[in-house]
Amino acid sequence: MSDFSLTASHARGKHEEDAVFTILKYAQEAIAKYGSDQVVNATIGTIYDDNERFAALTTVDEVYRQIPAAEIMDYAPISGLPGFLEAAINVTFRNQRPEGYINAIATPGGCGAIRHVFYNYTEQGQAVLIPDWAWVAYSSIARENLLRVESYQLFDRDYRFNLSSLQEKVQALLQIQDNLVIVLNTPAHNPTGYTVSVPEWSAIISFLQDMARDQNKRIVILVDIAYLDYAGDQEEVRRFMPLFGQLPQNILGTFAFSMSKSFSAYGMRSGALIGVSRSREIADEFFKVNSFSNRGTWSNGTRGAQRLLMEIAADPKLMAAVDAERNIYRQLVEKRGEIFVREAEAVGLDICPYRAGFFISVPTIEPEAVVARLQQERVFAVPLEMGVRFAICSVPTSKVPGLAAKCKKAMG
Ligand SMILES: Cc1ncc(COP(=O)(O)O)c(C=O)c1O
Repeated sequence: MSDFSLTASHARGKHEEDAVFTILKYAQEAIAKYGSDQVVNATIGTIYDDNERFAALTTVDEVYRQIPAAEIMDYAPISGLPGFLEAAINVTFRNQRPEGYINAIATPGGCGAIRHVFYNYTEQGQAVLIPDWAWVAYSSIARENLLRVESYQLFDRDYRFNLSSLQEKVQALLQIQDNLVIVLNTPAHNPTGYTVSVPEWSAIISFLQDMARDQNKRIVILVDIAYLDYAGDQEEVRRFMPLFGQLPQNILGTFAFSMSKSFSAYGMRSGALIGVSRSREIADEFFKVNSFSNRGTWSNGTRGAQRLLMEIAADPKLMAAVDAERNIYRQLVEKRGEIFVREAEAVGLDICPYRAGFFISVPTIEPEAVVARLQQERVFAVPLEMGVRFAICSVPTSKVPGLAAKCKKAMG
């Protein structure tokens, strides 16, 4: 192989095998060979019903189909339709809105929001702080934007939230950089299903308030709430949000809102970056800088999806219908989770602390080997750096019993 490359030096060698799609292909081959009832496909991170079909929310679908063509096909303003931005803020906070100045920018999903925060609030070449158990795309987004990632340990030895690790990492990074973005993916974290509790949030915020006494430091908390609406009671899961009303001027609270899961609209690529600050200037700057980034990366967002959220959020009856339909799927995933967790306990399989959401992860130092052994049992799960991820969101309830035991066996 020649070493010749046509790319600029910063793009050289960029490549990533997508573990999910690789294993998914194996699962599909097994399904073709043995039949779907003989195969457990725990790779896909979207909700499938018990007939293994994509779970669309009927009301969302119906509202979308009534939107006039021009409202789907035309451009949206660069920062998003104003009504969409208001709706995104309202559905994010519901009755737990923090005090302060709140602005939003439309982005292509939570992914776009994460990109803007990484890029606009970290100096080039410096590090973003993410958890060690993390969605792999954080590292890709950082690299794509010429940034590095550093990680804190999400759990301590007893599988409790590891505040000391977060503190140590923040302190160490603030010794060498003045801007720091800290990612918390909660509630219902990908890939473990962990939810940071309100007392844990209070401790995190009070620690960061301490760190921010040094006025040279600029801290941005990025809460990735992609799975928010599947984490439990709608108000309970948002209880931590008002804490973001107590931040000093040099801490900005940001939320990556996504329509992908909440409205089962993954492919429509719509979400928003929401910023909360006690300072009007910082909130205005947030709006300007991130609107500029929209123009400089993907221009504007998907107008039809923005219109869709506006229509739903403006009508309490529609909103209630969407909540009710989503709750059915939330409970379905909850039931699958309960079975897995109960059986894991029964067979002595250590799993990461699962509270809610799409995924359950099993820690292991040999994820590839465990995944390969599971495949011999026709169970397809995704290897991560520190474990194996089961996407219970897409496994029909009838196929969940026995999964934990198979995993225990595959651990050797
Ligand atoms: C942890 C996490 N954050 C954010 C996202 C963003 O999704 P989207 O860009 O579709 O909103 C995902 C999607 O899988 C995710 O798992």
